[in-house]
Amino acid sequence: MNEIVGLLAQTEVVPAPPYQPGSYFFPVQASTFAKDSDWLYYFIFWVCVVFFAGIVAAMIYFVIKYRRRPGVEPEPSSSHNTPLEIAWSVLPSLLLILMFKWGAEGYFDEQVPFDGAEVVRVKAQQFSWLFEYENGDFSNILHLTQNQRYEFRMESADVLHSFFVPAFRQKQDIVPGRYTTTWLQPTEAGTFRLYCAEYCGDNHSNMKTNVVVHPTEADRLAATAWLWDKLSKDPAGRIANGQRLFSIKCAGCHSTKGQRMTGPNLDGKYGTTEKLEGNRERLVDDNYIIDSLREPQKDIVLSFGPPNQKMQVFQGELNDQQIDWIIEYIKSIGPESAKTEPAPQ
Ligand code: CUA
Repeated sequence: MNEIVGLLAQTEVVPAPPYQPGSYFFPVQASTFAKDSDWLYYFIFWVCVVFFAGIVAAMIYFVIKYRRRPGVEPEPSSSHNTPLEIAWSVLPSLLLILMFKWGAEGYFDEQVPFDGAEVVRVKAQQFSWLFEYENGDFSNILHLTQNQRYEFRMESADVLHSFFVPAFRQKQDIVPGRYTTTWLQPTEAGTFRLYCAEYCGDNHSNMKTNVVVHPTEADRLAATAWLWDKLSKDPAGRIANGQRLFSIKCAGCHSTKGQRMTGPNLDGKYGTTEKLEGNRERLVDDNYIIDSLREPQKDIVLSFGPPNQKMQVFQGELNDQQIDWIIEYIKSIGPESAKTEPAPQ
């Protein structure tokens, strides 16, 4: 039963974990990249502080010393001073070369494949994340193990997104029509925030989830163990499966709490009659749900037509059994149970 309660928590935006402060500007350093990234940032920051203070102090000193006074003739300025000019060209150049060297090294570190990394497939879509692991499990919270190496193979179902975990100091764009890849080795156990860092539509700000870094692989497997088989044996389990699929595939656009999102809310709908675009009506039943997954353009709910119609085709993405589970879930939040659910926010 705890498993089902755990699934319930995933139907809305995943709550943020408490912020874990690291240094003044940054959260805790939770990956192998974090130290170098922070070091370079602070190096550049302090170079800027030292030069800013020195330049402003010299400027103020000269402004006062050489201000215009009655009866004092200006001193003639020297045309040039070779040692001084060489010094103020070469020394800052050395600093710039250092910054470039460390910046390039950090960039290459993040781009060069890790040996023996586990591949995690990341699928981004408006407005949710899906993570698929090598053992076939998948989840919408990213589960990793401390000190293990991972390769993320990322793809987008629609527009540009960006995978960003501040605690890992790792950010990588996800580009429609091609794979992008990045590598990670978490060094701290805990829960961290994962953001979409590329504006991708009206719900971009809700496209966020968590990364859970488990201390051991056994903890991670327990957290990601796919519940299909275990749960599909009884009706509540099938609903839970449907709910989990719904949270991964549908909840980015369809509320179950009465709110209008990118698509219509789906609570309290099963068994009712929906007004459609084109002055038609249709009973919300199993066939309507299947049609909507296979041919989203066919019977669009009134006021959700073009240019707002955005639903993708799920034909081939979900098998028949998965569609059945989703239908059972939508049934379970039909008008009857809607009465006992909390009021729409
Ligand atoms: Cu996806 Cu912003």
